Amino acid sequence: MKFTFVTLFSNLVEGYFQDSILKRAIDKKILNIEYINPRDYSDNKHSKVDDTAVGGGAGMVMNPQPLFDCLDKLKKEDEEVHIVFLTPVAKPFVQNDAKRLSKKSHIAFVSGRYEGIDERVVEKYADEVFSIGDYILTGGELASLVICDAVSRNIEGVLGNSDSLSIESFETSLLEAPSFSKPKKYDALSVPSEYLKGNHSRIRSLKLALSESKTKFFRPEQLLKYRTRKSYEK
Ligand code: ADE
Repeated sequence: MKFTFVTLFSNLVEGYFQDSILKRAIDKKILNIEYINPRDYSDNKHSKVDDTAVGGGAGMVMNPQPLFDCLDKLKKEDEEVHIVFLTPVAKPFVQNDAKRLSKKSHIAFVSGRYEGIDERVVEKYADEVFSIGDYILTGGELASLVICDAVSRNIEGVLGNSDSLSIESFETSLLEAPSFSKPKKYDALSVPSEYLKGNHSRIRSLKLALSESKTKFFRPEQLLKYRTRKSYEK
C-alpha cells in the first residue's frame, strides 16, 4: 500500500514512521510512503501558497493553483489513487473506514494549514473528507497520521498477530475488556481471580461482562448499537 502525504510540513509527519510497527512495515516493503509539498508546485515567484479569504474573514486560505497542479500530476501518475482531505468540517473517521480503506492500493492525504483549503480543490479532487474529532487542530497532518496508522494496522502483515484485530474495541461495537500483564499481584493489587483459574469459557463471559460495563459507562450509545445488532441476529 502506498501513502502520499500532501503537506507543506512533511517534517511533522516523517518522524512517525521512524520507529516501531510502521517502520517495520516500511522495511518489509508492505508500506511505501511519499511526500509532496504543494509549495514546489506554486507558480508564484515567491512560492506563495496562501492568500487572504475572498469575501473577508480571519486568516489565510491555501490557494487552488499549487494543489490543482500537484493533485493533477498525482492522478495522472496513478489513476487508482484515493484522495482524502482532512478537515474538522467532515464526517467522523471510524474503525469501519479504517478497514475499508486498508483495501486501497494508494491513498493520498491532503492536509490544510492556516484557515484551510480553497473549497474548489476539495470539490474537484476529494474522494473522501474526514474529521478525526470535534476539536480544531492547527493543521491536517496529525489527522492524516491518525488515519494512516489506523488503516495500516488492518493491512495484512503489518501487525505480527492478525488475531489481535478481531477482538478489538469497535469490531463488535463494544469497548475491549481490560488487559493485565504479569506479575499476577503488584503493589498489593491482583488481577481478577477468574483470569487466573484457566477456565476459558468463564474468562470469556467475564470479559464480555466487563466489556459491556465499560461500554455502558464510557460510550452508552455504542452499547445500544451492540444490543440492537444482537437482537437482529436472534
Ligand atoms: N484539521 C484541523 N482539525 C481537524 C480535525 N479535527 N480533523 C481533521 N482535520 C483537521
